[in-house]
Amino acid sequence: MERNLLFEVHKEIHHYYPEEKIFFSPGRINLIGEHLDYNGGTVFPGAINLGTYAVIGMRKDSRVRVYSHNFPDSGIVDIELSHIGESSEYGWASYVAGAFKLMGEEVELSHGLDITINGTLPNRSGLSSSASIELLMVYIISDVYGATLSRFEMAEIGRRVENDYLGLPSGIMDQFAIAFGHDRSAIALDCKTMEYSLHEYMEDEHEFVVINTNKPRELISSEYKNRKTECEAALEELNRFNAGAKQYLCDYNLEDLNASREGLSSDVFYLRAHHVIDENERTLKAIEAFDKSDFKLFGALMYESHDSLKRMYEVTGKELDQIVDTAKQLDYVLGARMTGAGFGGSAIALIEKGRFDDFKEAIEADYNERIGYAPSLYPVRLSTGPSIISERGAGI
Ligand code: GLA
Repeated sequence: MERNLLFEVHKEIHHYYPEEKIFFSPGRINLIGEHLDYNGGTVFPGAINLGTYAVIGMRKDSRVRVYSHNFPDSGIVDIELSHIGESSEYGWASYVAGAFKLMGEEVELSHGLDITINGTLPNRSGLSSSASIELLMVYIISDVYGATLSRFEMAEIGRRVENDYLGLPSGIMDQFAIAFGHDRSAIALDCKTMEYSLHEYMEDEHEFVVINTNKPRELISSEYKNRKTECEAALEELNRFNAGAKQYLCDYNLEDLNASREGLSSDVFYLRAHHVIDENERTLKAIEAFDKSDFKLFGALMYESHDSLKRMYEVTGKELDQIVDTAKQLDYVLGARMTGAGFGGSAIALIEKGRFDDFKEAIEADYNERIGYAPSLYPVRLSTGPSIISERGAGI
């Protein structure tokens, strides 16, 4: 399916059939551990089977001409490798331009490329379609020009595309989850030490579902920045009050926090710090439960996480809350929570296997009635990182 579409679109746009290789890079969900990566905590994401596909053809000149089937109105975006401009010049393809710019520091980009992309991740859904494209490009560039980067270096370059080239303040979680994606596995990443471990998940009895709120998201990047600044301020005040010099909020525990409350100049700082510290402890507990296949406990911790993000971190909003409220009424749902930055985007739920249709119906009915438009639901699997799917005619 995907192969035929990509090949035909490439032919139509670039006027020749592309090379055989099909490149894939996944999106991600975060199972638990939200807004912890930039606070030195442990996160627990996984790459998913929805993602971004691309085919390519070589060019003799130094231009990259990239087309996305998801943004047909943008047409072909032209990137001249000898002078890549500001991110604002390239629209959706700024992630592509940024990857070429930063990869140009690693390897000689000796010629141009024609690229055709198609993504199965809904746009602006909070499933990291941007990190998916970044890693897709880093992977393609490494393959074509012969860069030998570790998965970690790939993730770092993806993050720098976002932080340095686009000026977005995101942490490392999304790029790391994608670069290290592994079939049927979630990834525990300690964002202080960058140590990680894979945790296998048998999909026999339960499955994960993504529920996209379809809420238009405009303010995420400024709201995200605010949360980050509030956490930095809370850390500074805690350090001052305790005459300490801890590096991250997650270096404090709840007892420390409560004993230092008078050192915090605002209740908001207390609430933000409370979420961060508590969520970190909750995530460690959740990983233990996951390893023991105690999904009842895991699900309960997902609900707790959502509640903390709603009341203390204030990043959920009525759409995500509605989904979680409905989920709580359904006995075949083990847990549900927002995933990613919040402010709209998507929620995830862990449900008993075989109940997807019932779940979809129940969520849609309540959401339509209370929010006024429909959400979109997708069953998802934890899946592999960037890879090449090269077999001719392979059904993907
Ligand atoms: C976004 C960011 C991540 C992370 C999450 C919140 O997805 O890109 O780095 O901070 O929000 O957990």
